[in-house]
Amino acid sequence: MVRLGGAQLGYLALFALIVSVSMLGAAVPATAQLRPDFYIKSCKDLPFIVRDKVDAAIKKESRMAASLLRLHFHDCFVQGCDGSILLDDDSRLPQGEKTAPPNFNSVRGYEVIDDIKAAVEAKCPKTVSCADITTLAAFWSVLLTGGPIWIPVFGRRDSFTGNFSAALDFLPSPFGTNSELKEGFKKVGLGVTDLVALSGAHTLGFSRCAGLIPRLYNFNGTGLADPTIDKGLLSTLKTTCPQGGDGNVTVPLDPTAAAFDNRYFKELLIFKGILNSDEVLFTQASDTKGLVQTYAKNQTKFFGDFAASMLKMGSMKPKLGKDGEIRLNCRKPNSLLLEDAEPIIQLVSDA
Ligand code: HEM
Ligand SMILES: *[C@@H]1O[C@H](CO)[C@@H](O)[C@H](O)[C@H]1NC(C)=O
Ligand SMILES: *[C@@H]1O[C@H](CO)[C@@H](O)[C@H](O)[C@H]1NC(C)=O
Ligand SMILES: *[C@@H]1O[C@H](CO)[C@@H](O)[C@H](O)[C@H]1NC(C)=O
Ligand SMILES: *[C@@H]1O[C@H](CO)[C@@H](O)[C@H](O)[C@H]1NC(C)=O
Repeated sequence: MVRLGGAQLGYLALFALIVSVSMLGAAVPATAQLRPDFYIKSCKDLPFIVRDKVDAAIKKESRMAASLLRLHFHDCFVQGCDGSILLDDDSRLPQGEKTAPPNFNSVRGYEVIDDIKAAVEAKCPKTVSCADITTLAAFWSVLLTGGPIWIPVFGRRDSFTGNFSAALDFLPSPFGTNSELKEGFKKVGLGVTDLVALSGAHTLGFSRCAGLIPRLYNFNGTGLADPTIDKGLLSTLKTTCPQGGDGNVTVPLDPTAAAFDNRYFKELLIFKGILNSDEVLFTQASDTKGLVQTYAKNQTKFFGDFAASMLKMGSMKPKLGKDGEIRLNCRKPNSLLLEDAEPIIQLVSDA
């Protein structure tokens, strides 16, 4: 199969890249602090442990590739890529990100990250952060579905807390206008090319009807559908997502939802973008429209820009040294893990 071939090639290519890059020393194409070879001594098999787990998860449910990619994005946009989204709510912590509206009942894949973390802890205890595991899970999700390869960088540490209101402030809205989307990306240090290239992640996965209903029935308070949606697509979407229907029903974000390709951009050209935030890249500004047209014509160009933007997004505000920790359980800071373990230790010593 073509896709399996690509994955195997990717596996070998990554290995070769990490090994060769680690011998280049100062020439490592990393951001200031993160490095491709960060775990080369402490957890040499890390890329392959994660690869096998992601591969198995995608074979079980192809959508998981999309979900893991989005998990990394939602981690990075809120106080940097620090595993903050992975923390469960706990009365001893500030309210976390999982229950924030952009994430709640929407972001998926937490159990897969737990499973990968357990496998990594078994091989390399107390060494690899949950933020780096999430980064690598996103990397393999792209590669294993046919997307581009890049040299991922590592060394992020995990946050001690998440931030509910920052999730509201920093995660972009599917109802955003072109200029609002640009503004939102600018707030985290990303530009127009990053916006369009990274939106190409919607080549994978699904949206719930909940996020589409306003666009289909009451666009921007008009009481009508968004006039830019293709008429055929509009009637299909209305059938799948009736007004007052189950908001959890899903529709694919492009017709090839399990394959990482440039189909998403081809759909925008014919007004078949699913989210409002997708179609406005084509309809509302000439700079983003030009990029959509380029990526629709040239998948190689899309892949190159996507890879560069993923590296940029993945390098946002890494926590280093004392600003973070290597969480042992991705759902809890280590301080709480210890606190929760104390009663058990107490019982044992009482006995
Ligand atoms: C440009 C601003 C963006 C907006 C407004 C946006 C919004 C959304 C929304 C509303 C959904 C559907 C969620 C649901 O219904 O539960 C979604 C799905 C998705 N998003 Fe985005 N997104 C954006 C950018 C990105 C970026 C930068 C990435 C990754 C690099 C990404 C990756 C995904 C993926 C893969 C899915 C499908 C997830 C799945 O099937 O589980 N998105 N997005
Ligand atoms: C949480 O996010 C809000 C909104 O972005 C910000 O004002 C606040 O300082 C953050 N809190 C912490 C503790 O970082
Ligand atoms: C939505 O409506 C407001 C005013 O009611 C207008 O300024 C804005 O441009 C509209 N947005 C879109 C995307 O049509
Ligand atoms: C969607 O599913 C979640 C559980 O995953 C449930 O709590 C929620 O009520 C459902 N929402 C709708 C609109 O049916
Ligand atoms: C597509 O993009 C690649 C990478 O930027 C470039 O080398 C190639 O010439 C482009 N192909 C066409 C047909 O424009």
